[in-house]
Amino acid sequence: MAVDLLLGLQWGDEGKGKIVDVLTSNYDIIARFQGGPNAGHTLEFDGIKHVLRTIPSGIFHDQAVNLIGNGVVIDPVVFVQELDGLDQFDIDYKKKLIISRKAHIILPTHRLLDAASETSKGKAKIGSTLKGIGPTYMDKTGRNGIRIGDLEMGTWKTKYRNLANKHEELIKFHDVDIQYNLPEMEEEFFKAIDRLKELSFIDSEEYLQQAQKNGKSILAEGAQGSLLDIDFGTYPFVTSSNTTAAGACTGLGVSPRQIGEVYGIFKAYTTRVGSGPFPTELFNEIGAKMAKVGHEFGAVTGRPRRCGWLDLVALKYTCQINGVTQLMMMKGDVLSGFDKLKVCTAYKYKGEKITHLPYNIEPENLTPLYAEFDCWEEDLTAMTTASKFPKELNEYIEFLEKELEIPIKIVSVGPDRTQTIHR
Ligand code: GDP
Ligand code: IMO
Ligand code: MG
Repeated sequence: MAVDLLLGLQWGDEGKGKIVDVLTSNYDIIARFQGGPNAGHTLEFDGIKHVLRTIPSGIFHDQAVNLIGNGVVIDPVVFVQELDGLDQFDIDYKKKLIISRKAHIILPTHRLLDAASETSKGKAKIGSTLKGIGPTYMDKTGRNGIRIGDLEMGTWKTKYRNLANKHEELIKFHDVDIQYNLPEMEEEFFKAIDRLKELSFIDSEEYLQQAQKNGKSILAEGAQGSLLDIDFGTYPFVTSSNTTAAGACTGLGVSPRQIGEVYGIFKAYTTRVGSGPFPTELFNEIGAKMAKVGHEFGAVTGRPRRCGWLDLVALKYTCQINGVTQLMMMKGDVLSGFDKLKVCTAYKYKGEKITHLPYNIEPENLTPLYAEFDCWEEDLTAMTTASKFPKELNEYIEFLEKELEIPIKIVSVGPDRTQTIHR
């Protein structure tokens, strides 16, 4: 059996959590492969809304095992809060939730370092979620990190102390005013580690290889979005992991030859939270309407998301890098009743028309060129079949399919599990 992937094609918050939940009934294993509690994946069903951070979005289905892969960074404190949130749902997470020994641990001082680094950057800050993601991946690639498997060994606390001491020196180096009480943070951290240790730590790459041999179906769940990829995103305004398809191979230990379908998910418009360039951003009442109707506030930080038109140049780029085989369009319902819709099909870059994403997409170099569409009037949220779609929505979808040369297989028309239309 192949491993299928689901990835965000924009700057995150495309609706990955919702779709993973919808697809989970077709899979035996759901596996997160990168990122950490900077993610906020929202699921809605039976009138309940739930936001997951590190735990894969298949957790509400009885038949699926949920795996946190080696590429993920785990904050035990946030993780325990997530477990507490699941308690009311009567989920047997000791059986259904397993963690790679090779996943790295976010320490309290990683969070402090994130804050110190952002503060020292001033106006040039990344707009990080301040969950310690960057500093933890830095320690991973710097070969100083502490991994889940270390918790099974006697010596990890010495390693912890040495690393935390070093972090405190680095915090001082940033020379910014960060108030903290480390002993208090550590008490919470060590308590959370004890709780974490109740779960199964496994050699997840071996587990996944055996699962495949035994015919189990696997869905890899991405976090963030392709434009936040450390290599291919809008650097330096990105996250610190490979959010693109290749990240699933390194973040789970599956080979490129084992990848099957690549589900690419995008909003019918674009949003971004945090700093960095965003060519199609709208600073007018249209953008404000997208934000209001789409409830565009970050699931993790509550920050307002910046909104703008769909950027097809960027979308083509991310489809290509990921090898997307099927598309899913989210939040079309939000656009109902807009006067006109625009889609960016090219950029004017230093006086020339281009149709690829250049190295520098800062606004001073680049103006988006748009195709314009009539918008649908109808409320989509109660629709259950594509045969009822208004003509204008079909035109919008068909234009995107033609340009991207990839079929749009799912159109989501609301946050609930049931508001999902297969084409
Ligand atoms: P993720 O990080 O990719 O999982 O996405 P988030 O959960 O951060 O953000 C997506 C938001 O849009 C959540 O609040 C979802 O409940 C909501 N959502 C998902 N799909 C739809 C849709 O088709 N229509 C509307 N109106 N909301 C949606
Ligand atoms: P999901 O999985 C949207 C953004 C932050 C910031 C940048 C770096 O819910 O789609 P970091 O905390 O990683 O140092 O932040 O990346 N960011 C996200 N934006 N959705 C996310 O995750 C994000 N995770 C990080 O806002 O601009
Ligand atoms: Mg999110």
